[in-house]
Amino acid sequence: MSAAELFDGMGIEYERAFGRLPAQLEAVGWLTDRLGAGARVLDVGSGTGRPVADLLVGAGCDVTGIDVSRTMVELARAQVPGARFEQCGVHDFEAPEGSFDAVCAFFPLLVMSRAEVSAALRRMAGWLAPGGYLVTATVPADVDDVEIEWMGRRVRVSSFSAEEYVRQVREECGLDVLHHAVSVFQPDDEQAGPEEHVYCYARRAKELPGG
Ligand SMILES: C[S@@+](CC[C@H](N)C(=O)[O-])C[C@H]1O[C@@H](n2cnc3c(N)ncnc32)[C@H](O)[C@@H]1O
Repeated sequence: MSAAELFDGMGIEYERAFGRLPAQLEAVGWLTDRLGAGARVLDVGSGTGRPVADLLVGAGCDVTGIDVSRTMVELARAQVPGARFEQCGVHDFEAPEGSFDAVCAFFPLLVMSRAEVSAALRRMAGWLAPGGYLVTATVPADVDDVEIEWMGRRVRVSSFSAEEYVRQVREECGLDVLHHAVSVFQPDDEQAGPEEHVYCYARRAKELPGG
């Protein structure tokens, strides 16, 4: 099942189970504390638009959300009219280098291959303006294309350990990692068990070394 099919079938059920992640709310607060009014923010895998795009719009940011799921994009457009949402995958989205003051990606990088996870991280880093922030979260696991059961569905996922994920942000994407932490979350859904999450806050240097 593709990510689009998975999340088309899930819709608002996802927000009911995962809409109140303390570490995610903290991450968005950390980001908005650093962004001025009108900051251009790209939310990759924007889901239902809540809570992330909604909070960013509330903080005065100029928000673009992208998501592969048509259902999620329709929900987000209805719930967060102050942001723009596009049905588009992170590997297909076209934006000039350096065109966002921040990019956030909360949990879109799982239903894909490891090569695609790494490529997505590099693309997102490339969209950052000098001094821009990349804030991401994923489920850390040393797994390559394995089938798991999640929210009552069979899904094929890939990921990296927390250490390898943070290393890629630092070394493959060339960003300064300002903070990373692992937390455990129990979704508000009887079909779902506790999940480990790794959060990583990173920044593109203001100027190129020697520049
Ligand atoms: C686990 S949900 C998280 C939603 C939201 N970021 C949040 O934290 O509430 C992941 C979202 O990423 C989207 N997604 C999955 N793969 C994607 C891709 N390659 N490009 C863009 N969005 C993707 C899914 O459709 C889904 O809406």
